[in-house]
Amino acid sequence: MALDTRNKKVVVTGGSSGIGLELVRELLKDGCQVVAASRTMENSKINHEKLHKKNCDVSLQGDIDELFDFAMGKMGDIDIFIANAGFAYYEEIKGADWEHIKKIYDTNTLSVIYSAEKMKELYPERPYNFVCVASAIGLLSIPGYAIYSSTKAALNGFANAYRYELKGGQKFQVVYPISTKTHFFDDNEGIDPPPPVQTPEHVAGSIIKGIKKDKDRIFPSKIFYFMNRFLPFLQRFYVRSESKKFEKLAGEGKI
Ligand SMILES: NC(=O)c1ccc[n+]([C@@H]2O[C@H](COP(=O)([O-])OP(=O)(O)OC[C@H]3O[C@@H](n4cnc5c(N)ncnc54)[C@H](OP(=O)(O)O)[C@@H]3O)[C@@H](O)[C@H]2O)c1
Repeated sequence: MALDTRNKKVVVTGGSSGIGLELVRELLKDGCQVVAASRTMENSKINHEKLHKKNCDVSLQGDIDELFDFAMGKMGDIDIFIANAGFAYYEEIKGADWEHIKKIYDTNTLSVIYSAEKMKELYPERPYNFVCVASAIGLLSIPGYAIYSSTKAALNGFANAYRYELKGGQKFQVVYPISTKTHFFDDNEGIDPPPPVQTPEHVAGSIIKGIKKDKDRIFPSKIFYFMNRFLPFLQRFYVRSESKKFEKLAGEGKI
């Protein structure tokens, strides 16, 4: 039976921009109560009587604990938790840098696993949906995204095993977006994202559809889904073309 997302109580991290902001808009249209969180959420212009904004740096354990307390205080329950906050490095790795690795793992990976554990702690038996926005690059690694793709691939590995620990009605849903036109690529101005590119509205709509259908794996791009599942030779061709781009940019010292 399809999950009715109307009037649910939802937490969205990374709600100030891009995919997260579109998710917040769609969920509010569906009548949901929403707690939206990001480092700058309280400055964001979006306002609604059913929206509660919270500043939160998901790379910090204390901030996630506070976010759960805040959400329970405002809504009394959390039916759906969407761990969407994240960022990427597009780079050539030139040396050893512990802090550089730690920053992205804390944000993209550790925070998601910890939030999933918090949901389970809160509701050991009760049904809920935990949704994490991973990436197509977590399944198909491409040059320039070595560290980023590993942070998302880790989520995939976690989800595949962790689902066996969940009780009936508890869902761990992973989303695999391809390039999406958001602020995500702002740090690499002038460099084209890996094609094709989707809109955040489309990706948010696919995520909500996937939640309603209780899908374990949500693919906003059908082309990527088919390529990943049935056409491995096309993947090799795609990676080769991205590799040429990477070599050129690295050679010119642009990354
Ligand atoms: N765009 C793409 O091509 C693409 C493709 C595949 C997957 N994804 C994934 O989709 C998710 C959303 O990205 P987007 O494309 O919508 O990018 P975006 O427009 O840059 O939005 C990222 C959001 O995450 C928040 N954020 C970043 N670091 C945070 C932190 N430490 N604590 C709390 N919030 C933080 C940002 O808000 P603040 O700056 O206010 O904190 C912002 O709201 C990410 O997990 C990304 O990896 C994106």
